[in-house]
Amino acid sequence: MPATPPGDAVPRLLEWFAAEGADLPWRRTRDRYAVLVAEVQLQSTQVARVIPYFEAWMERWPTARSLADAPLGEVLTLWHGLGYPRRARNLQAAARVVAEHGWPERLTDLPGVGPYTAAAIRCFADGEAVIPVDTNVERILSRRFPEGWPGTPDGQGWAVGQALMDLGRLWCTARAPGCDGGCPLREGCPAADAGAVEERTPRKRPQGRYEGSMRQRRGVLLGRLAQDRRVPVSVDPDAAEALLADGLAAREGADLVPVS
Ligand code: ADE
Repeated sequence: MPATPPGDAVPRLLEWFAAEGADLPWRRTRDRYAVLVAEVQLQSTQVARVIPYFEAWMERWPTARSLADAPLGEVLTLWHGLGYPRRARNLQAAARVVAEHGWPERLTDLPGVGPYTAAAIRCFADGEAVIPVDTNVERILSRRFPEGWPGTPDGQGWAVGQALMDLGRLWCTARAPGCDGGCPLREGCPAADAGAVEERTPRKRPQGRYEGSMRQRRGVLLGRLAQDRRVPVSVDPDAAEALLADGLAAREGADLVPVS
């Protein structure tokens, strides 16, 4: 049997997504601000965990203007539990730029917006045929499309991007991918055909242990601050210094207090 031409894979991907794509709250909007919020929250945090945070956030701050006007302390409180609170601070800084000046021509000029997030806004809000390449998508491209992306059909930029997100999360996973368990793009997959899925998985940067790390200690302190509104610096002076240096907490005498 001749191998399936690579060009067939994209229509198959789209067919699969139309039938089985996940219904996620950020897929019901094409608003740039909402997409920005979702994509920043989804960086380093799993979909199921992000959903309630995204919904609460959009209810509290439905527009860039409303987020721009919020006290940073409250922004950090609503973020708490998602991790990497610098993301929240940058998100608010970006909302302030947008509220004051509108969206910049170059989206990467916004605080905290790198090439991935910029591509995600163009794809998921504007519907452009741009593929946002995060580690999941990078893995799919490396395994399934080693010769390059065969092309996005007209008007399908949004669907292609979202479909790749689902494929990477559900089938073309980093560990134990579901190649022979029903992956919709199994047919004609060069990596699976060659038994080389493992070798063709881009290596991710090893992340240090969270337990006992400075990141954990900062998180604990920020959590207490969100709850108690005042925490003595002496509880964890190093973590307190780190939060102060990043502008994620303020100091009053011997205490940490929320930033306003
Ligand atoms: N991860 C990053 N962006 C995503 C999206 N739009 N849908 C699902 N998972 C994602």
